[in-house]
Amino acid sequence: MADKRVDELLESMTAAEKAGQMTQYFYFSAPPGKDQQPKAVEKALERGGAGSLLYVYDPAEINRLQRQAIEGSAHGIPALFAYDVIHGLRTILPVPIAMAASWDPEIIERGQAIAGREARAVGIHWTFAPMVDIARDPRWGRIIEGAGEDPVLGAAVAAAQVRGFQSAGIIAGPKHFGGYGAALGGRDYDEVNLSDYELWNVYFPPFRAAVEAGAGNIMTAYMDLNGVPATASRWLFTEVLRDTWGFDGFVVTDANAVRSLVVHGFARDFPDAAARALAAGVDMEMASEDPANDHLPEAVDSAALDVSVRRILDAKARLGLFDEPYVDEARARRILDDPAHREVAREAARRSAVLLRNEGDLLPLDPAALGTIAVLGPLADSKRDTLGPWVFDADVDETVTVLDGIRRAVGDRVRVEYATGVPVVQRLVPSMFDGDGSNVQADPPGFDPDTEFDRAVAVAAAADIAVIVVGEWQNMVGETASRSSLDLPGRQLDLLQAVVATGTPTVALIMNGRPLDLRWAAENVPAILDIWYPGTQGGDAVADLLFGAVSPAGRLPFTWPRTIGQIPMIHSHTRSHDPDNQSRRYWNEESTPLFPFGHGLGYGRISYHDLTVDQPSVALDGTVTVTVQVTNDADRETPEVVQLYLHQRHGGASRPMRELKAFRRVVIPPKTTLPVRFPIGPAERRYWHPISRAQVLDPSTFDLYVGGSSTATLTTTFEVTA
Ligand code: BGC
Repeated sequence: MADKRVDELLESMTAAEKAGQMTQYFYFSAPPGKDQQPKAVEKALERGGAGSLLYVYDPAEINRLQRQAIEGSAHGIPALFAYDVIHGLRTILPVPIAMAASWDPEIIERGQAIAGREARAVGIHWTFAPMVDIARDPRWGRIIEGAGEDPVLGAAVAAAQVRGFQSAGIIAGPKHFGGYGAALGGRDYDEVNLSDYELWNVYFPPFRAAVEAGAGNIMTAYMDLNGVPATASRWLFTEVLRDTWGFDGFVVTDANAVRSLVVHGFARDFPDAAARALAAGVDMEMASEDPANDHLPEAVDSAALDVSVRRILDAKARLGLFDEPYVDEARARRILDDPAHREVAREAARRSAVLLRNEGDLLPLDPAALGTIAVLGPLADSKRDTLGPWVFDADVDETVTVLDGIRRAVGDRVRVEYATGVPVVQRLVPSMFDGDGSNVQADPPGFDPDTEFDRAVAVAAAADIAVIVVGEWQNMVGETASRSSLDLPGRQLDLLQAVVATGTPTVALIMNGRPLDLRWAAENVPAILDIWYPGTQGGDAVADLLFGAVSPAGRLPFTWPRTIGQIPMIHSHTRSHDPDNQSRRYWNEESTPLFPFGHGLGYGRISYHDLTVDQPSVALDGTVTVTVQVTNDADRETPEVVQLYLHQRHGGASRPMRELKAFRRVVIPPKTTLPVRFPIGPAERRYWHPISRAQVLDPSTFDLYVGGSSTATLTTTFEVTA
């Protein structure tokens, strides 16, 4: 819409109407058969006071509420409908940490494009995604929603998601700006104390990349950042986001975060909270009830609201809502059922799985050589857990579990025996998403805890191969799902040990959103495949990997610690004093991880060689081209993620021993060598300097490492001169 229409609206709107546009209300539809309770939001709609609603996803319901919004507004202004479309709406993709483990922006973009297409079809205009918070503490449950520990991988994944969502015509809202992932002790919502050095070099780059990819919205974070609630930080939302990065979309708060400014002991009361969030650069408040923004007209001049209201109306205009506010419900149903979306979900799950261990090439399995497969563990046949958290509109029945996938792949040729072995473990404190209980799993009918364990072990003993799924139930990870241990919940480790003790070759599939304590498994279970929560088509994708239709090529997006006591542990640490003396770190524990960042195996025979740099020396603004030859000696095509790490030997700051700077997923044909090239220029060498408080480039000697993980050994150097 031409700015003129927005100008005219702004001239004729009252302060209360403007504050209404700056308010987003929760709207939970009543479960089928139950009456809808009258809510504050309905009253707000009647008086044209709800600029946006969240949590509605039924197209008929969206049309109904949209009509109320338009009819209630003196100016016929439509509402924005928003939702947490995190990894799919109807078709569920692997969880975000899994998508990041693909190290593959192409499939990530494709995945979020189908999520966006389904969302737009039902009338959702905006998703609260991607979550681009760096997470270096796996106690924090929301590690599952992001891309892990690394700013370069995080930035690539963030940008791909924004492109994907927005290509489908919905607004992407990267969150939670900024530093939310560094909560003290990994406790969700706890305060964050991060240096500017870490913020600029580690926590900000994914947000910046999302802004550069054109994200239309940014969400604030709940916690205090260095003493000031993020939601009221003018530094974050005005100086960094708008003035430095040129963000021109609108900012929404996290749920009730304006009201929380009072809870934090920061704002005096709601009017003060609303005025201070506005002054920081916030445009819209997300509120479950009684919004603080209702007090804006009494707290500030009407004209002070215009900048925010204009941003919100511009967003509605760009979406075409003034001309076409309603959706076609029949078309929505067709799009939700699109089989092409399931294919993308299957491909995404194939590319996300990480083969952590494969002793003696146990995988891939050859069905022709197997009489019986034992499939074990309650997670192996749990549809709801296969989907992971942040799933609301999925058709759970449609979900393909690991057991389903294996059965479908082998058909009648191989017997598949299933035993759960151990009971379902419930989270001690119900998750905020358990709601009516439909998210909570129950033991299968007839489950007998006294005999089931032994039955499972007997099933394993009688089989040619045991495939056991262990991990966390989906509501044990995610928002408000922090943990103080990384153990496998319940008796899962006992079951794994008993199964391995039968002598039957065992494959452990890990269903998780955070690293778990796999010390025993990493030494005793020959094959370990991390399948995460793989989504709607998860079981089929897992079968594709187990039986070798495709080779795994996922790579860890975080450092996998041995024990919780090592946290935080990252690949990009500095060298520091006496680095070779291990005992100066922990005298009771290795200072290496269980699996390094970037680790992941495949079915090919990959080797790296002939690493070269086209010039031995370049000026500060110069770029070298790095070339490495990657050979696949196997008889099968193999995807591989080529990773490049950089180390600056000296300069104005002690820089990390290794930092990921570039990567590429390539598919290498059988018996072939491919050259892979990366330009390494100022963008890869620049960092934010803590004393000059600016981005700098240092002359120095740089070490390059290229290979299949952050422990790559193939190395060379180049010089950068002043
Ligand atoms: C979460 C956000 C989410 C919002 C709306 C909050 O509790 O922190 O990530 O988008 O709820 O569901």
